[in-house]
Amino acid sequence: MLEARGLTRRFGGVVAVDEVSLEVAEGELAGVIGPNGAGKSTLFHLITGHLRPDAGRILFGGRDITSLGPDRRARLGIAIAFQAVRLFRGMSVLENVMVGAHAWSRSGFWEAFFRLPRHRAEERRILDRARRALERVGLGDSADRPAESLPLGQQRIVQVARALCGEPRLLLLDEPASGLRAAERERLAQLLASLRGEGLTMLLIEHDVAFVTRLAERITVLDHGRVIARGPAAEIRDDPAVVAAYLGQARERASA
Ligand SMILES: Nc1ncnc2c1ncn2[C@@H]1O[C@H](COP(=O)(O)OP(=O)(O)OP(=O)(O)O)[C@@H](O)[C@H]1O
Ligand SMILES: [Mg+2]
Repeated sequence: MLEARGLTRRFGGVVAVDEVSLEVAEGELAGVIGPNGAGKSTLFHLITGHLRPDAGRILFGGRDITSLGPDRRARLGIAIAFQAVRLFRGMSVLENVMVGAHAWSRSGFWEAFFRLPRHRAEERRILDRARRALERVGLGDSADRPAESLPLGQQRIVQVARALCGEPRLLLLDEPASGLRAAERERLAQLLASLRGEGLTMLLIEHDVAFVTRLAERITVLDHGRVIARGPAAEIRDDPAVVAAYLGQARERASA
């Protein structure tokens, strides 16, 4: 479904993503891990079109999408739950999920949200999709609650629902479990497993190796922008290069 070939992205002197190639098959939950600053989020933003590569190509369903902007890619079915994005305070859970619809709605979320008459039908469509997305993640009962009243774990799940609102073919999740407590992680892991059971294709970034090795079939490991290992979860965990990358980071922290 997704194929990245030789993607490179520099920021000044930093090569954040360095000739990275990656494939995600239809129905797969693929993982990307790596220490802080490895280039994981940059790679995701290259895939969604929020960043342009300096080199390399991206194919989605066999089609070259490298030159398409983020809106076009979203309409083709690529959605992202961004790292550490907060929900809008003062808005309900449902309204927060509706924000996700702007990616595919022709009239745009805000026009529909402010109920311009010619957009009533569109608004209803967005509402239906948002409700369906909330049901899908098991938060249908919380639709009308203020978003900020939910515990952090459920707020993360609302972000997943927001990304699902456009009914994507490929969902990118950037560290959805970070900062969650064990029980919340468990619930999120179960949700991702059930979405995979529905046939949704996902690419998951996680800092927590245990979380991702449990869910993903195949894992790509980044360090300093480069792929240092890839393969089945069980092999990756014991790969000396992977262990060294994480240990290296722990040492840098300890000496800082
Ligand atoms: N917009 C930007 N401008 C300049 N440098 C950037 C920008 N975005 C990322 N970088 C740099 O690129 C490198 C990779 O960053 P990136 O955010 O992709 O890492 P990451 O693997 O997602 O890290 P984390 O686990 O902390 O989220 C880092 O050195 C970072 O400082
Ligand atoms: Mg990141």
